[in-house]
Amino acid sequence: MDNGRRTGLFFALEGLDGCGKSTQLALLAQALAARGVPVLATREPSDGPYGRRIRAMLSRRSELSPQEELELFHADRRDHAERVIRPGLAAGKVVLCDRYFLSTAAYQGARGFDPEAILRANESFAPIPDAIFLLELGVDEALRRITESRGEAPNDFERREGLAKVAQVLAALDRPYLVRVAAGRPKEAVHRDLLGLVLARLEGSDGDAR
Ligand code: TYD
Repeated sequence: MDNGRRTGLFFALEGLDGCGKSTQLALLAQALAARGVPVLATREPSDGPYGRRIRAMLSRRSELSPQEELELFHADRRDHAERVIRPGLAAGKVVLCDRYFLSTAAYQGARGFDPEAILRANESFAPIPDAIFLLELGVDEALRRITESRGEAPNDFERREGLAKVAQVLAALDRPYLVRVAAGRPKEAVHRDLLGLVLARLEGSDGDAR
């Protein structure tokens, strides 16, 4: 059916903190696995050496300059791509990634870098997903969910301003692989849409991937 170079498909889930990415990724992985699709679920910051450094530093972010922070996210992405994403795709898996380079464009963009330049740089060194699903949620709703589920301070002005900037960058991005999904709905409805989008792409690719 093909020449032996069959690869899997690559999907990333992106969105504001609180948008439900991680929940949706777990539901998607489960639904695909139940259909016999080989799935590899992963995330960024990754569990590799750079990703671990990032996670350790997220709580004391001010210790890093914006440039150092950007470089660390890029180093983690290169490492994650080599160690996890490319091997997974080469093995024919459907790779699902919780956060990817849209996060760098949006979060580091919110810290002053040009989001478009960040996207172009990432597209040149990191595998481009078959689709990036952007779970769209208003900043107020995102803050409400973060507050409810994680018990974080409700009126943290700095946090609100930061998230609003991230949301603004995300709203302006435009790429052929970018698919916007309304996330302010019951999680079952969001899941149905995401699963439909993924299955449609699986059907459009090599049939053996199903
Ligand atoms: P994480 O604990 O994964 O948060 P969440 O559960 O909301 O995904 O932490 C990821 C944080 O790192 C999140 O606030 C966004 C940020 N981030 C960046 O700033 N740039 C990036 O390139 C990535 C991948 C994440």
